[in-house]
Amino acid sequence: MILVSGGAGFIGANFVIDWLAQPGAEPVVTLDKLTYAGNLENLAGLQGDARHTFVQGDIGDSALLARLLAQHRPRAVVNFAAESHVDRSIHGAEDFIQTNIVGTFRLLEAVRAYHAALPADERAAFRFLHVSTDEVYGSLAPEAPAFTEQHRYEPNSPYSASKAASDHLVRAWHHTHGLPVVTTNCSNNYGPYHFPEKLIPLMIVNALAGKPLPVYGDGRQVRDWLYVGDHCSAIRRVLEAGRVGETYNVGGWNEKTNLEIVHTVCGLLDEWRPRADGQPYASQIAFVTDRPGHDRRYAIDATRLRDELGWTPAETFDTGIRKTVRWYLDHADWVARVQSGAYREWVARQYAGAAAG
Ligand code: NAD
Ligand code: DAU
Repeated sequence: MILVSGGAGFIGANFVIDWLAQPGAEPVVTLDKLTYAGNLENLAGLQGDARHTFVQGDIGDSALLARLLAQHRPRAVVNFAAESHVDRSIHGAEDFIQTNIVGTFRLLEAVRAYHAALPADERAAFRFLHVSTDEVYGSLAPEAPAFTEQHRYEPNSPYSASKAASDHLVRAWHHTHGLPVVTTNCSNNYGPYHFPEKLIPLMIVNALAGKPLPVYGDGRQVRDWLYVGDHCSAIRRVLEAGRVGETYNVGGWNEKTNLEIVHTVCGLLDEWRPRADGQPYASQIAFVTDRPGHDRRYAIDATRLRDELGWTPAETFDTGIRKTVRWYLDHADWVARVQSGAYREWVARQYAGAAAG
């Protein structure tokens, strides 16, 4: 079986669902702390599936980790667990340091002890896959080539700095302790179960609620978008055939400005759920104060993953965004339930007094 940490969040849940949908899939133990971003409802479709076990817990809890590893004897650990929202890291970085750095350290230590005690054949086959981000590479100039795995680390936000630190720990546990690790650095994901504090789901949810669509600064920042299912297939492929100690960039060759994204979402909603007054959803766009330290552009060069492991994304941006908007239209109940009191407080704080630009 495999142990998936952070498997009740956006990408982790998609990964667990997709994993178990593969023919002959090995069982999964999901370990998740269930922070505001973790939602067991994302895994509701697996209820009653004997191949899936859910454990609520923290990757920083060494005793729990030792117990889980001894009990379930995974042949791989896939680490999604993290604090993931840049804006939250700007308001307060403590949780990011605790989970992304200290938590990753504790997980590495627990896995190291477990791995060392495995019989030789299981030890050789074992993998620790660390899920990371393109944000560790910092910001690109408009015409600069996309990030390769050789790009130097230049994280600019508390979030990306904490992820960079975790990547360095993973690397060191390989070089120093011989832990068989692989790391993936992926660009911006979108798709089902994306928490509506992030750009795409926030725009869909706000548009439908008749609220302003807050675009930071001039809206011309560029992100490289990948449908979440393609990120999941990349992780499966790297787990299967990635070289130990190596890192793999994952991306969809889909650079878009934030304004393009918002207009695309608005256009689909105009088509599928037109406003009662006949006005376009784009009329709700509101330019607000920019994110401090806002990275201007990310772009991923996924050539290594494509050429070495034969991975390519299955979705284009057009097909992926259509699936995504459709999913949110069909899952208004999911949206309503994640909009808990804690979520509303965060949104109120983040956008309070945001000056129109
Ligand atoms: P998310 O915030 O939706 O989910 C994170 C999950 O981790 C939640 O279920 C949360 O409860 C859990 N968690 C948090 N702290 C924990 C702890 N201490 N112990 C156990 N579980 C804990 O994030 P996501 O967008 O699904 O991202 C998953 C991973 O992928 C993160 O490591 C992130 O850095 C990385 N990543 C995300 C993107 C993206 O576009 N969302 C892109 C590249 C990489
Ligand atoms: O690049 C990978 C990263 O992508 C992941 O590592 C992060 O976990 C994930 O959250 C995401 O980070 P971003 O900061 O790029 O995503 P976010 O959805 O927060 O913002 C995308 C862009 O949209 C960014 O340029 C900021 C802008 N934005 C965001 C929000 C929430 C707005 O203009 N308005 C908003 O209200």
